[in-house]
Amino acid sequence: QAAQKGGYRHFMLKEIFEQPQVITDCLAGRMDRKHNRVTLTELEALPTPSRLHIMACGTSYHAGLWGKYVLESLARIPVNVEIASEFRYKELVEEPGTLYLSISQSGETADTLAGQRMVRQKGLPVLGLCNVVGSSVAREADSVLYTQAGPEISVASTKAMCSQLVMLYLLGLYWGQNRGTLSAREMSQNLLTLETLPQTLTSQLPDMQKRARQLCPEYSRARSFFFLGRGIYYPLALEGALKLKEISYIHAQGYPAGELKHGPIALIEQELPTFALAMQNHLLDKIGSNLMEVRARNGKIIALTNPGVELDIDEKWEIPQLGDPLNSFLALPALQLFAYEMAVYLGKDVDQPRNLAKSVTVE
Ligand code: G6P
Repeated sequence: QAAQKGGYRHFMLKEIFEQPQVITDCLAGRMDRKHNRVTLTELEALPTPSRLHIMACGTSYHAGLWGKYVLESLARIPVNVEIASEFRYKELVEEPGTLYLSISQSGETADTLAGQRMVRQKGLPVLGLCNVVGSSVAREADSVLYTQAGPEISVASTKAMCSQLVMLYLLGLYWGQNRGTLSAREMSQNLLTLETLPQTLTSQLPDMQKRARQLCPEYSRARSFFFLGRGIYYPLALEGALKLKEISYIHAQGYPAGELKHGPIALIEQELPTFALAMQNHLLDKIGSNLMEVRARNGKIIALTNPGVELDIDEKWEIPQLGDPLNSFLALPALQLFAYEMAVYLGKDVDQPRNLAKSVTVE
């Protein structure tokens, strides 16, 4: 096993550090830079949908929520995202032009598979977004996009989510180009930044790990955490909270920052820190004022942000400004490394957290 870990202490750490390669592999053969187009041959037999309905569980569900923001913005396709265990027991409301998308790393999650089977029984089209080749979700879907993340061993999913985000982004560009919602200039800019992403991430990961480690002595004493974000960073806040819960066993809740005032703010005090995703974008002022509310109640704040951003917080964690949604590909590993370092600091079994399974194949 030590050899398989390639010199890393845990599979989770190895898989976090594999993300630049995962991005490269996901993009391989998908980008036509000469014509500024995205090629997804797997989708050629399917019509461009007028609506998308995503079903998934766990980390894959968070990827789906992120995909909603990105697909609606790039391709102007309305997207609905549902937790598969809820979706499978609901009455399906059929709407013409809807494509169903199952997102699953393993392709064996019982609830996702059941949701997909329900849809297919009605003769409706399903696209699978899977990592494991030949898995049940992949075999039973009408068409499948593979995420090219390679085998993921650690129970807590990291690189698989990164690959799902890349593929959802490519889907947004692909349908955007087909529907004419993106100009040639926008396509070219998006493809160019995607192309340079692996290199940027590779150069950032070691510093991110150090920064995460620095935060442990003080913040590992917390019994609970809030993770706050807005827009595309809201699903990432959910994922940051999930990762922390899964491997460090510290309770954490992800929230859209604007909802704080509708209840959760009652919990804020010095012992309940907030991890905020506060990137330089059109929502920065909004999240900045949410953080002032936290501050006014003595809540400690760690903020993942971009250089030049002024915030009244305790810990500033800067990542380069790549713009939206590209910043997500730096924010995600920062959140993963924060959870990882906290779990290591607390002496937890990172790769095999208690009570969890890599793939939940029973209900
Ligand atoms: C389990 C795993 C999670 C994963 C979820 C969905 O709960 O522990 O890491 O996100 O299943 O798995 P899937 O294979 O469908 O993406």
